[in-house]
Amino acid sequence: MVTLAAAAPEAMIVGDSAVIAELRRLVACVAPSGASVLLAGPSGSGKEVVARAIHAASGRGDKPFVAVNCGAIPRDLLESELFGHEKGAFTGAHAQHKGRFEEADGGTLFLDEIGDMPADMQVKLLRVLEERAVQRVGGRGQIAVDVRIVAATHRDIDAAIDAGKFREDLFYRLAVFPIEIPSLAERRSDVPQLIRHFVKAMGKRAGDLQFSEAAFERLAEHGWPGNVRELRNFVERAAILFAGRTIGPAEAGSLLLRRGRVGAVERSALWEATERLHAAFATEEDDEDAGSVQTEAEIVPIRAEIDISANRGLNRGEPVALRDMLADIERRYIEEALTLSDGVIADAARLLSLQRTTLIEKMRKYEMKAA
Ligand SMILES: Nc1ncnc2c1ncn2[C@@H]1O[C@H](COP(=O)(O)OP(=O)(O)OP(=O)(O)O)[C@@H](O)[C@H]1O
Ligand SMILES: [Mg+2]
Repeated sequence: MVTLAAAAPEAMIVGDSAVIAELRRLVACVAPSGASVLLAGPSGSGKEVVARAIHAASGRGDKPFVAVNCGAIPRDLLESELFGHEKGAFTGAHAQHKGRFEEADGGTLFLDEIGDMPADMQVKLLRVLEERAVQRVGGRGQIAVDVRIVAATHRDIDAAIDAGKFREDLFYRLAVFPIEIPSLAERRSDVPQLIRHFVKAMGKRAGDLQFSEAAFERLAEHGWPGNVRELRNFVERAAILFAGRTIGPAEAGSLLLRRGRVGAVERSALWEATERLHAAFATEEDDEDAGSVQTEAEIVPIRAEIDISANRGLNRGEPVALRDMLADIERRYIEEALTLSDGVIADAARLLSLQRTTLIEKMRKYEMKAA
């Protein structure tokens, strides 16, 4: 996982294209103003990165940055999540609970997927923004809060307004300063720099992983439907399979898994690389025929084996949180399957050999959304 928290605000948004330079300029201008910002951009394009950069450059950087995914929280819990509740406010409210607004006091509240906010909550949010105070569910008094709002949406909010699903007055309140984040396809010249950034962030895990010029040319042809997130996952795959090597165009192509189907050439390249991987991670007691089975169905388990092999904490006698590790692997598979299937849940479920409903349940558990 790449951590960007410690970076200087302007260094957090990686890219040297003209559109990214302009984006950085807008962030630098708006950050200190305290104005509400509405970020619009496709999934994986960096909305949260930009929100964090605004926070870091706002003068509130040493106060909390609190993110809420408005689309992932069940509607009957959203009010208490945002505004808190008093003990006994509803069945199950065993103790007083501070909401996200109070948690973010002095800092920034990032309201992700704002377009998914139910209509009744839109009214309540508007009131809070106007009064700069919250009322906990079941509470009487108003609690003053000083919170900078950055909201984000991956969908066309204008269409939601036209369809009567999103309040126009709330839109104007949130979009004092709207910023559009371009898709990666609109700024392919950033691909090499982003790749180097992710390789560096991986540190030793990637070794001296490099890409030839021809590999970069091959990657420039790709459409990157999953945007920067897809690119980050691509670099992870590259680091896992080719750590310390220079990747050429064929290998780069083999790592670009497309919509659930891997071609024969890519498959053999992947398996060749997987055998190297097994050799690299092999220990004396490792099973002898590792890497010898080459069916398409078994391509997917590669990453789980890697994650487990790479975690040598147990060997050093350190405890590991198995449940968290498994959840992390599960989450990453789902994320990748969704990227590969362009967010089509039925396709992703097929890739993961899950029922559609099971996948939806798991996505809910991990607060994930299809593209
Ligand atoms: N310009 C950038 N520089 C460095 N890293 C980036 C950039 N844009 C995105 N990333 C990385 O790509 C991944 C996806 O970014 P992020 O979560 O901000 O996207 P998003 O637009 O919020 O996506 P979603 O709509 O799916 O929530 C993250 O790992 C993030 O660190
Ligand atoms: Mg996001």
